[in-house]
Amino acid sequence: MDKQNKIIVIGIGPGNPDYIVPKGLQAIRQARFLVGGRRALSQFAQKSQETCPITADIQGVMHFIQARVKQAAVIVMVSGDPGYYSLLDALRREFPVEQLAVIPGISAMQYAFARLSLPWHDAVLASFHGRVPAAEAIAFAPDKVLGMLTDSRYNSQSIARYLIDRGWPETSRLHICSRLSYEDEEILHTTLQGALQMAVKSACILILEAGSSHT
Ligand SMILES: C[S@@+](CC[C@H](N)C(=O)[O-])C[C@H]1O[C@@H](n2cnc3c(N)ncnc32)[C@H](O)[C@@H]1O
Repeated sequence: MDKQNKIIVIGIGPGNPDYIVPKGLQAIRQARFLVGGRRALSQFAQKSQETCPITADIQGVMHFIQARVKQAAVIVMVSGDPGYYSLLDALRREFPVEQLAVIPGISAMQYAFARLSLPWHDAVLASFHGRVPAAEAIAFAPDKVLGMLTDSRYNSQSIARYLIDRGWPETSRLHICSRLSYEDEEILHTTLQGALQMAVKSACILILEAGSSHT
């Protein structure tokens, strides 16, 4: 088989360009073909580059990559880290794994734990982004630390209700981390009960500490 051009998937971090690794930034700057969300393209794309926005039309994105990679490498920018809920899954289904290369990024989840100065080696991570995690992942246990991705349906309020209904104490400490790394970053410290009374936060990271109850 001829040597194939690569599809390079780059994690651009939680949002602020200060948090992209230099290797990723270099590959983005040198790209001829650049794929990414509209926000990432407006941050990084240059006039000389041919771009393709990632929209709901994932097949359209795959066709763009399929056609352009015959000519040169295609750079695909994803938020956070590519290995953690990104387009990488779909790319692995569409292209041979040998054609893919990944430059890691800082996940929003990793960044949230860093902002709380909280180690995450014993944390359980779960995603409510367009899905509901397995019951055992989100089950209450003393001393459990649970990090969660959210979306607009499963947000700070609905997830708090969901977890209380499944046996988590209402006084469990909850950190609601929004707009991480941006200038208007907001980290609220409350409880599951408190989250029910506060304004809804969507597309945030929730970190719940079972062993750290507040009365
Ligand atoms: C599809 S997931 C992508 C995760 C990404 N690959 C990562 O490693 O961070 C999108 C979710 O990540 C979280 N997220 C991404 N960027 C964020 C940020 N800057 N602040 C807070 N949460 C963020 C939100 O829960 C959002 O709904």
